[in-house]
Amino acid sequence: MAGESGSREQWGSRAGFILAAIGSAVGLGNMWRFSYLTNEGGGAAFLVLYLLLVAAVGVPVMLAELVIGRGSGRSPIGALAHYGGDRWRPLGALFLASGFLILSYYSVIAGWTLRYAVSALGGFSADSGAYFEQVATGPASVAWHLLFMTLTVGIVVGGVNRGIERVSIVLMPLLFVIICGIAVYAATLPGAGSGYAFYLDIHLEKVFDWQVLNHAAGQAFFSLSLGMGAMLTYASYLSEDENLPNESVIIAAADFAVAFVAGLAVFPLLFALGLQHEVGASSLGALFITLPTAFHEMGGAGRVVGLLFFVALAVGALTSAISLLEVVVSTAIDQLGWSRSRAAIVLGAACALLGIPSALDLGVLGFMDQLAGTLFLVFGGLMLSIFVGWVMPDPVAEARQGAEGVPWFFAWRWLLRSVVPVLLLVVLWQSLRALFG
Ligand code: TRP
Repeated sequence: MAGESGSREQWGSRAGFILAAIGSAVGLGNMWRFSYLTNEGGGAAFLVLYLLLVAAVGVPVMLAELVIGRGSGRSPIGALAHYGGDRWRPLGALFLASGFLILSYYSVIAGWTLRYAVSALGGFSADSGAYFEQVATGPASVAWHLLFMTLTVGIVVGGVNRGIERVSIVLMPLLFVIICGIAVYAATLPGAGSGYAFYLDIHLEKVFDWQVLNHAAGQAFFSLSLGMGAMLTYASYLSEDENLPNESVIIAAADFAVAFVAGLAVFPLLFALGLQHEVGASSLGALFITLPTAFHEMGGAGRVVGLLFFVALAVGALTSAISLLEVVVSTAIDQLGWSRSRAAIVLGAACALLGIPSALDLGVLGFMDQLAGTLFLVFGGLMLSIFVGWVMPDPVAEARQGAEGVPWFFAWRWLLRSVVPVLLLVVLWQSLRALFG
């Protein structure tokens, strides 16, 4: 098996790994959901809460995944069994299920972004609501979903080094430049100031709501690609001299930065065109209806900005989708001895089929997002923190490899043992209640 024979694939460079991991983290979750939640959750007060959660929960769980992945050099099921015995295999299986389910609907939304990017060339429709209806349902939605899955499979077939790494090195800098460029442009628009105020004005009372804590924690997990072994799998292609604590901070910081800047781009755009009253409906609607309305009303500039915006979204979605597929592909290679191309094609096709109900029905899509995108991830994160905090023999020794000078291992282990599980239990309880009444 590839995992044991020493022939496991490896990243070509440190930058390659970091950009691929940031590529996994930065995706649809950053470009819209984050700014939407910030506005709903109390503006700058929410930002502080979110950053605290990223520091106290996100970074520790990320480091936990990186440590298990690199230390074992295996995909999730094998990695958990390596440190915890066969009893832990079911958790690995849950990770695969989460990845599979998330990718199935994520690809549907990603397909819409592709379609919007292409249609931006001809100008956005005057009736964005009707256009969205047409894009998001029926055969068109299925077709763009299948196209997006095909792209994803194509990259994963290329392998860790020549597929995932190469694509991330080219696309991630492009995404940063586009998002920053749009934010700078948006700052020049009249009304930008009230856009920022809407985004960031402090509403302290909102932060002390359980629902907000819940959303912030769920968002942190989804946005950082945690709780289902994606970071674990990427780390399994690393060598022992990589400084994992540093990398986990870099990845989390970059993910936050993109989310924050995307908000700086989006709200001024909406305010400049007087669309602030249409933000409220739903986060998907705002992204695919309100923003395209803004682009339509901006005329020629709107075509360019809109094209760039949806290209950035599609790029973010693509580098995230490949990490989701890589988890199952890597497992099929390790556990079943499949070839990479067979694994990518067979599993990609299965996932594409599984996504069809989401492509036809927004209700199904929303349910999948609640179930896999929130519940499974939070549960996965809870189990991971218990695993590394209490079960794995000596996680600090593994984390210390390549990171001798880092002073916060003690705090890391302590957080994983106490704060993280308790907080995630609360969040899990809350999301169960939200999902099943
Ligand atoms: N992080 C991505 C986003 O923000 C989505 C994603 C990719 C993901 N891989 C993941 C979420 C693994 C959870 C787990 O859009």
